[in-house]
Amino acid sequence: MKDRISRLKREAGAVILAHNYQLPEIQEIADHLGDSLELARISKQLSEEVIVFCGVRFMAETAKILSPDKKVILPSPDAGCPLADTIEPEQLRDLQGKHPEAWTVSYVNTSAAIKAISDVCCTSGNAAAVVKNAPAEEVIFVPDRNLGSWVQKQVPDKRMILWPGFCYVHELFRAEDLDEARRLHPGAEIIVHPECRPEVAAGADYVLSTAGMLKRARESSAKKFIIGTEIGLIHRLKRENPENEFYSLGNARICVNMKKTTLSDLEYALKTGEPVIQIPEETRTRAARALENMINPDYHNPGAVS
Ligand code: 13P
Ligand code: SF4
Repeated sequence: MKDRISRLKREAGAVILAHNYQLPEIQEIADHLGDSLELARISKQLSEEVIVFCGVRFMAETAKILSPDKKVILPSPDAGCPLADTIEPEQLRDLQGKHPEAWTVSYVNTSAAIKAISDVCCTSGNAAAVVKNAPAEEVIFVPDRNLGSWVQKQVPDKRMILWPGFCYVHELFRAEDLDEARRLHPGAEIIVHPECRPEVAAGADYVLSTAGMLKRARESSAKKFIIGTEIGLIHRLKRENPENEFYSLGNARICVNMKKTTLSDLEYALKTGEPVIQIPEETRTRAARALENMINPDYHNPGAVS
């Protein structure tokens, strides 16, 4: 099947992007593997006309928003993100009405419709920098309350209004898991994702995006690591650092949506050119502004963004 997929990919002039939480066999066949920020950046720079996105819907939508002339295919169309579904545009508009001076920062884990009414987007890899450089004292931050409260600690001079959404996968890690991990693996480095609860983030050695975790594992002198994120990342960590040991914090946590894409979905998508991501043009243009603000270095020079 892998050979057939490679042949179909060549014939279709396609490129395969995959998130770090994908199934091992999908990670291994991907042309580019990364976190949300890396994949958003890469999708903008590709020369291929067809992008097959192995991840969840908001990630494929982000690629389409940034590269409107390309065909973006999501092989498993029902791979959504329950965190992204916690906020509807009317709810965000309501919040904006209550805080008219605030700058709206939306995590990329949102629908295109939410991005379209946001000032700027962020990912877990750049959230603190994006909020720090917001040209307002008050920031509406949606939809992840855990990422929001972690950012608030890094950027105390902003007044952040947090939407109460959370990721059910990361919410499952508990502070007790940290004690147990330290007891079982003394000396191991504990790295967690900022979508974890505040008490888990506070007790960890590092709080990093999935790409940040990979970088830390490469650069650290530690030999053992405890990882507080979706289990798919551990496959990549072990593959890239075979001399080191990686364990999940507490029980292994699985994002069912990230595991929906199989090799046969991928083969079907390449054979048929479907299912394709479509976004109404007006929504896309507005959402592109928020995403471009996130990527544009000018955003990070306060005053340069309108
Ligand atoms: P990263 O941006 O760190 O890859 O995280 C994406 C995500 O969905 C976390 O649950
Ligand atoms: Fe959404 Fe959580 Fe799955 Fe990430 S791990 S895609 S935030 S449900």
